Formats: sequence, structure tokens, C-alpha cells
Amino acid sequence: MKRIDPLVRLLGFAGAALLGAVALAAQQPATPTPGPGLDLINERCGYCHTTNQVFAAHKTAAEWPAVVQSMIDRGAELSPEEQKVMNDYLVATLATDKKAAGAAGH
Ligand code: HEC
Repeated sequence: MKRIDPLVRLLGFAGAALLGAVALAAQQPATPTPGPGLDLINERCGYCHTTNQVFAAHKTAAEWPAVVQSMIDRGAELSPEEQKVMNDYLVATLATDKKAAGAAGH
């Protein structure tokens, strides 16, 4: 029975590592909230960098519009209406201060 021991330990370790990976994955941005802003992000924000750069960014409600403006300055194609849709979407779904407020609420 002594010979199985290391294997059992190894399996236990693999299981723990797997759980760790799952926990890590859970910290990644969740599936983005659907909406017109998301469609715009997928269409206009994914060719200089991945859209994940957008979803993983930690920006406050005050910062998002400035980020979008700076992307437009860099060459992102958004009409003023689309820019507004995107700002609203980013602030509503990805602003760190809004999320923090929600988490503190319970
Ligand atoms: C013309 C190319 C281009 C397009 C299109 C573009 N980006 Fe970027 N983006 C960049 C570059 C270059 C950087 C890295 C430079 C930097 O971090 O300032 C960047 C960085 C970012 C960052 C990280 C900035 C930070 O301060 O951490 C965010 C968030 C972002 N882009 C959002 C967007 C969004 C939202 C869109 C769609 C409106 C978009 N990007 C479209 C070029 C682009």
C-alpha cells in the first residue's frame, strides 16, 4: 500500500491545482453583458488589441469615457452616437467603482 501513497498525493495535488485554476478562471471577467455596446466593442475594439483588453481593464466610471476618447484619437472608428452607446455600456457594466459599490452593498 505504501507504493500507492505518492500517486494518491499526486492526484490530490492535481485536484488542488485544478481547483486553483477554476478559482483563477472565476476571477477573470465574467461573460460580458450583452447589449449594443458589446456589439460595438466586438466590432470596433478588437483589431488593435483583443477585446479582452477592454473587458480586463480596471477603469472607473469617470475614466471609461476618457479611455474611449483616447482610442478614437488612436483610430477607433466610432460615430458620436456610437461613442455615447459605448460609454454608457462600459460605465454600466465594467466600471470598477460601480462593481465595488455593488459588492459592498450586501
Ligand atoms: C487604432 C488602434 C486601437 C483601437 C481601434 C482601439 N484601441 Fe484600445 N488601445 C490601443 C493601444 C495602442 C493601446 C495600448 C496603449 C495604452 O495602453 O495606452 C490600447 C489600450 C487600451 C486599453 C488599456 C488602457 C489602459 O489604460 O490600461 C483599453 C481599456 C482600451 N484600449 C480600450 C479600447 C476600446 C474600448 C476600444 C474601442 C472603442 C479600443 N480600445 C480600440 C489601440 C487601439
